Amino acid sequence: MKLSWAALGLVLLAPLAVRAVEPISLGLALAGVLTGYISYPRLYCLFAECCSQKQSLSRDALQKDLDSKLFGQHLAKKVILNAVSGFISNPKPKKPLTLSLHGWTGTGKNFVSKIIAENIYEGGLNSDYVHLFVATLHFPHVSNITLYKDQLQSWIRGNVSACARSIFIFDEMDKMHAGLIDAIKPYLDYYDNLDGVSYQKAIFVFLSNAGAERITDVALDFWRSGKQREEIKLRDMEHALSVSAFNNKNMHGLLITVTSLVAEHGL
Ligand SMILES: *[C@@H]1O[C@H](CO)[C@@H](O)[C@H](O)[C@H]1NC(C)=O
Ligand SMILES: *[C@@H]1O[C@H](CO)[C@@H](O)[C@H](O)[C@H]1NC(C)=O
Repeated sequence: MKLSWAALGLVLLAPLAVRAVEPISLGLALAGVLTGYISYPRLYCLFAECCSQKQSLSRDALQKDLDSKLFGQHLAKKVILNAVSGFISNPKPKKPLTLSLHGWTGTGKNFVSKIIAENIYEGGLNSDYVHLFVATLHFPHVSNITLYKDQLQSWIRGNVSACARSIFIFDEMDKMHAGLIDAIKPYLDYYDNLDGVSYQKAIFVFLSNAGAERITDVALDFWRSGKQREEIKLRDMEHALSVSAFNNKNMHGLLITVTSLVAEHGL
């Protein structure tokens, strides 16, 4: 009898004890565990995307992505691979990485920017640290150019302050107002800091159709003279792109080039 009373007593006590103990102390214990996790950045970044999440970008993974998704662009592939992996692994770059991709629609310009974004941030183009601007979509009205300039500068500044390794992609550069391009230029230079913000770890990608005709011409010249596309060197493209009077041939773009890298990165 005594035993069963005791048992009953225990049963009656148990829910009370659980109610009394669980929400408070167990809750606190849990909170302790959680804050323990959250205050530990690496673990936190397992659950949420972090700025510079993949500080050590995998060169192999990037190469694999470029090889499997980008066809016939040997030049662009090589330059992009070297430039991006070299830049990411440099702890103290002197200036931001500036990639300028030229070529017709369908040559894979947008694809390349997507691949780069995905190899640096899990969320790719949807990441909080990757910003895509399309000239005709985001800056459509010439009359509002001053407003766009201020906005763009404050966005670049704000985002880089929050995350040094921010990526900005500008599509349709050929349709972008010259005033807006001027507004971006200061951020691309060798400044240690500009109004207290350092832009040296940021990445700027510019996409445009400009120069596509000349690229096509160079590729055609090589083809005509019986050379392989793989023999085309970046320097040939640099030369082609520096010729300002582009011929207007209605050919399909064959190549992407990455300019402004030759001098900066010794490619
Ligand atoms: C320019 O911006 C102002 C707001 O600052 C807006 O009222 C106006 O409609 C805009 N103009 C155009 C052409 O979008
Ligand atoms: C970052 O850029 C986005 C545009 O991509 C903008 O809407 C946002 O306000 C910027 N953030 C800061 C802090 O400036």
